[in-house]
Amino acid sequence: MTTEGTSFVHLPDAWYAVAIAKTLRSTPRSSTLFGQPIVTFRDASGRPSTLLDRCPHRNVPLSLGRVVEGRLECAYHGWQFDGDGTCQVVPGLCRVATSRGRTATAFETREQQGLIWVWGVPNAIPTTDPPSFPHVGEAGYHTVYDVVEAQGTLHAAAENALDVPHTSFLHRGLFRGGKARNEIEVVVRRFSDRCEAEYIGEPRPSGLVGRLLAPGGGEVIHFDRFILPCLVQVEYRLSERSHLFVNTALTPLSRDRTRLFAVIAFRLPLPGFLVAPLVRPIARAIFAQDARILRAQHETISRFGGEQFHSTEVDALGPHILHLMRQAAKGGSSTATEEPYTRRFTLLT
Ligand code: FES
Ligand SMILES: [Fe+2]
Repeated sequence: MTTEGTSFVHLPDAWYAVAIAKTLRSTPRSSTLFGQPIVTFRDASGRPSTLLDRCPHRNVPLSLGRVVEGRLECAYHGWQFDGDGTCQVVPGLCRVATSRGRTATAFETREQQGLIWVWGVPNAIPTTDPPSFPHVGEAGYHTVYDVVEAQGTLHAAAENALDVPHTSFLHRGLFRGGKARNEIEVVVRRFSDRCEAEYIGEPRPSGLVGRLLAPGGGEVIHFDRFILPCLVQVEYRLSERSHLFVNTALTPLSRDRTRLFAVIAFRLPLPGFLVAPLVRPIARAIFAQDARILRAQHETISRFGGEQFHSTEVDALGPHILHLMRQAAKGGSSTATEEPYTRRFTLLT
């Protein structure tokens, strides 16, 4: 199967993660979403708010300013905006500061399960709640947060995060890639808002991560999932006591740059406090290899003026992720009328 063009898909009617909540304190945080500069800050009650990062007065970035009594103060003339974008203070003006034309464009913002989420369309009422992550905050589970960035479309980053064949090659030793090769049965399913791959009969991965997950070996229950428009889940279960659930919220900073907010919930036979400090360095070592490849992929696609991909069945989810995103962009999900899709194949890892 061949695809050409670009895998960027504009899906603004959704929640996107912009920050790890505990890192958003008194300093305003600048970011971009679909290339639009935005700024997130906490108001006097600690509630997060997001504005377009452009002062309505003379268009200086509001993120250069500071937060004063819960209002974002522009660094140029000191206009102050509340969380709704209403200008409450114009220094030197003897009349009321509030005026429609002085209002900064605002985005709905929520704090949930340790992340700050922004609705992708300004001045709009969200039609859903932000996605919730399984097992985060559940008794017996530890949660580790991290944020990394990749060059490339959201699709390229999502496919990479869920792509099994590259793990025994690019991440040899860290993840899979021992001497023995295994035949695994894979079931790919696509629903109206998600697709998943279930790996059946997979022995414990032979790399460092596998040994941490299950020191005693055994067989793995492994699911990879993409949920529209920006959520990726990787789940490994080895026994009642060993469960790793990696949730990643992908944020399209622009057409070709993606930020990944990883929320890793896990329960292991080893004490969590011993393992937790290892999770982030190991995840980062794996991701550094991915980031290098994604950058090279992006540069080559740019140089050649577009993508030209050839896939096989072992590229289990990438084509389905793109299908779902394109269907959603056409208006509506991959419609209820579409038959649920299931396919089985054998993978050699
Ligand atoms: S540019 Fe922001 S107050 Fe003047
Ligand atoms: Fe990878």
